[in-house]
Amino acid sequence: MDTPPFTLKARDFGPDFKWGVAVAAAQNEGAWNQDGRGPSIWDVFSRRQGKVKNGHRPTIACDFYHRYKDDLMLVKALGFKVFRFSISWSRVLPEGTGKVNKEGLQFYHNLIDECLALGIEPWITLYHWDLPQALEKQGGWTSHLINRWFNRFATLCAEEFGDRVKHWIVLNEPMGFTSLGYMLGKHAPGRTGLSNFLPAVHHAALAQADGGRILRDSVKKAHIGTSFSCSEVLPYTDSTLDIQAANRMDILLNRLFIEPALGKGFPDEGMQLLEKLRLHNTTWKYTNRYAFDFDFIGLQHYFPVVIRHNSFIPIIQASEVKPVTRKVPHTAMKWEVNPNAFYHILKKFWKYGAVKEIIVTENGAAYHDQLKDGVVNDVERISYFQQYIQAMMRAKKEGVNVKGYLAWSLMDNFEWAEGYQARFGLVHVDFKTQLRTIKNSGYWFRSFLGGHSG
Ligand code: NOJ
Repeated sequence: MDTPPFTLKARDFGPDFKWGVAVAAAQNEGAWNQDGRGPSIWDVFSRRQGKVKNGHRPTIACDFYHRYKDDLMLVKALGFKVFRFSISWSRVLPEGTGKVNKEGLQFYHNLIDECLALGIEPWITLYHWDLPQALEKQGGWTSHLINRWFNRFATLCAEEFGDRVKHWIVLNEPMGFTSLGYMLGKHAPGRTGLSNFLPAVHHAALAQADGGRILRDSVKKAHIGTSFSCSEVLPYTDSTLDIQAANRMDILLNRLFIEPALGKGFPDEGMQLLEKLRLHNTTWKYTNRYAFDFDFIGLQHYFPVVIRHNSFIPIIQASEVKPVTRKVPHTAMKWEVNPNAFYHILKKFWKYGAVKEIIVTENGAAYHDQLKDGVVNDVERISYFQQYIQAMMRAKKEGVNVKGYLAWSLMDNFEWAEGYQARFGLVHVDFKTQLRTIKNSGYWFRSFLGGHSG
C-alpha cells in the first residue's frame, strides 16, 4: 500500500500524549557484577555456547550503569518527555528475595532523580526478563513460589520508588519470556516443553495482576499498566484449515495473557487447544486472581504474522510463512514492515471494551546501520517510524484511546539471543568504545517532537 506523505507533528496527537523512549536493564546497564548485584538468568544463559549470536554477553552492554547521566541528556536532547526503564531484580535483591542491596537501590534512586531534574518522566517496568539466577535454581517461573518472590520484589520497588515514580508496567511481554524462555529454549533460562511452559504461563498471569494490586495499594496516584507483545495474525490462504490455524496462533500470541488480565479467563474459543495445553481445566478457579483493573494496556508491536496449517507441528498445528518467503518488505530481523497491521491490532485491543487506555510501550525496527564520517543515515528506520505513527493516528482518529508512544529503543543494545548485532537504537553505540552517535532517525524524532508542549 502506498503511504501518504508524512506531514504529522507530535502536537497533532494532543498536548497530553506521551512521547518517550524505552530501554531495559539487561539490555543496556552492564555492570553485571558490580556493587553487590547478583547474576541474572541472562548472565548465565549467555555463557552457554551457541545460545547468543557471536557469543555476545550482557556484561557491559551500553554501560548505562555508569553513563546514565549522559544518556539521559540524549533523551532530553531528542525531545522525549518519557523514559521507560526496568529494574534489574538481581541488582536490588541479589538472591531474588531476602537481603536488599542498598547500592543497587541507590542506582535507581539516582536515575529517577536525574530524570526528574531534567524534566523527564520516569516509567518503570518491574520485570523485563532478567530473573535472578538464584531464583531460577529454585524453579524460576515454573515454581509456585515465584509469586511470593515476585510480590516481595514488587513491594520493595513500589515502596522505594513510588513517591516519585507514578507510571508502572508490571511485566514486559509475558508471552515473550514464557514461550522463548520456557517452551522453545531460545531465551534464558533455556528451558523447553509444555511442562515448563504451562506453569510459567499460569504464574506469570498471576504475577501480572498481583503486581497491579501491590502498586495500587502502595503508590499514591499510580498509573498502572502491563505490556503485551501483539501481532496481527493473518491466514496464508482463505482455506478453512489456514483460518483455523491462524485462530489458534492468535490465541497463543495475543489472547493468552490479555484476556485473563481483563477478567475473561483464558480464551474460551479454541477450547480444544487450551484443553490440550491443559490450562483451562486446571486454572479456571484463578480467573478472579488473574484479573486487575489496569489503568492502561501497554501494547508492543513489531510485525504481523502469516500462518498456515501445518500438521507436523504438535498441538498448535500451525506455522509461519516468513516475510522472506512472501517477498514483502522486512527489517534486519526479517520482520515484516506493515503499518496496517499495527492499525488493526490497535483496533483489536481497543475492541475488548474493558481496556481504558492504550500506551504503545514499544515499537521500532532494526536495520543494518552504517556509521560513516560520524553519520548514520538510517532512512529506512525514519520511514518505518513515519508509517507506524501515521497508522497510530488513523486508529486514534477512529476512536482508539491511544495516549502514548514509546520508541524502542533509545540506543543500540543487547538484543537478547541476537546479541549486539541487531541495532534498534535512535542512537548508535560503538560497543568497543561506548561512543554514542545520534542517528538521523534520532534527529528526525527531534524535529517531529519539536514544539510539542506536553
Ligand atoms: C520486545 C522486548 O521487550 C525488547 O526487550 C526487545 O529488544 C524488542 N522486543 C525487540 O526485539
